[in-house]
Amino acid sequence: MNKLVKLSFLVLILASVIAWFQPNVLYNNTKYLHDVAVKFPALVSFFKWFHGAKGPTSSTDHTQVKEAVPTVEPTRVFTKEELAKYKGENGGDVYLAIMGRVFDVTRGRDFYGPGGGYSFFSGVDGSRAFVTGDFKAEGLIDDITGLGSQDYIGLRDWLDFYMKDYEYIGKVHGLFFDADGKTTDYFDNAQQWIKEATNHKEDEDLFKEKFPMCNIEYKPEEGSRVWCSTKSGGIKRDWVGFPRSLYSADSKNIRCACAQEADLNDSLLKEYPNCPKDATSCMLPK
Ligand code: HEM
Repeated sequence: MNKLVKLSFLVLILASVIAWFQPNVLYNNTKYLHDVAVKFPALVSFFKWFHGAKGPTSSTDHTQVKEAVPTVEPTRVFTKEELAKYKGENGGDVYLAIMGRVFDVTRGRDFYGPGGGYSFFSGVDGSRAFVTGDFKAEGLIDDITGLGSQDYIGLRDWLDFYMKDYEYIGKVHGLFFDADGKTTDYFDNAQQWIKEATNHKEDEDLFKEKFPMCNIEYKPEEGSRVWCSTKSGGIKRDWVGFPRSLYSADSKNIRCACAQEADLNDSLLKEYPNCPKDATSCMLPK
């Protein structure tokens, strides 16, 4: 979707939520967006969606979503105390770290410098907050243990964004790198979590292509109708498919999927009652 349309849409929704809960916020500047995010974690999903449009790594073409590998590895190693000096105070440089890599974000002083909407990221490795939206001191930490698969994809995309848009200038001694700038076991674990998340997303994307969602409409007098066409569930294809109930492996979730003839015997699929096997449109029982 066009970024401007997307932004306008988001701003409208956010403004409505904010106006409802905290009318004063609208009269202050945008940095309060993040305070609001902390109070209403559901908004973080909107944030992620908005920033999902950012770099090329957010493409659904997963062959492109690789972590950017720097051509030259910087040798400078910061201690956390040293890094904390680079918050852009008195016109000084602004640095931030993500997953142990330090970036010079001075160019983005308006975002990261004193008074900027994202100043909490400067001078620290606040990796976890990039995906949790918890921008309080206790949330701005480098520990990324136990996050969800989507979060690891998010972190990978943020790292990729900084690699592309800013200068990678060093490493910070912490969970990811030791005092000599060598990678730690934690670094290897994090790589593994990201790899697993990437594989999981690839599998999910393939599954969505195999069984795209049906189109659905509801009319009070007739009830719900599901149907298949060459574009449904956001998947454009050269086949139409037949509507079936698709059960998740643990049978806890059911959704309508369009299935091709060759897949109709899949054990996760069930026919809709009172709908012919070869119909491309079915009325759901009321
Ligand atoms: C988890 C929540 C969020 C995080 C971690 C986050 C992080 C960031 C960061 C780091 C930047 C600076 C990027 C740069 O250096 O160029 C940025 C820019 C920006 N953010 Fe957010 N943000 C969040 C939520 C939001 C929300 C809710 C909005 C609301 C519309 C928003 C709107 C923007 C805009 C307009 C920019 C500048 C334009 C751009 O570079 O695309 N952000 N965000």
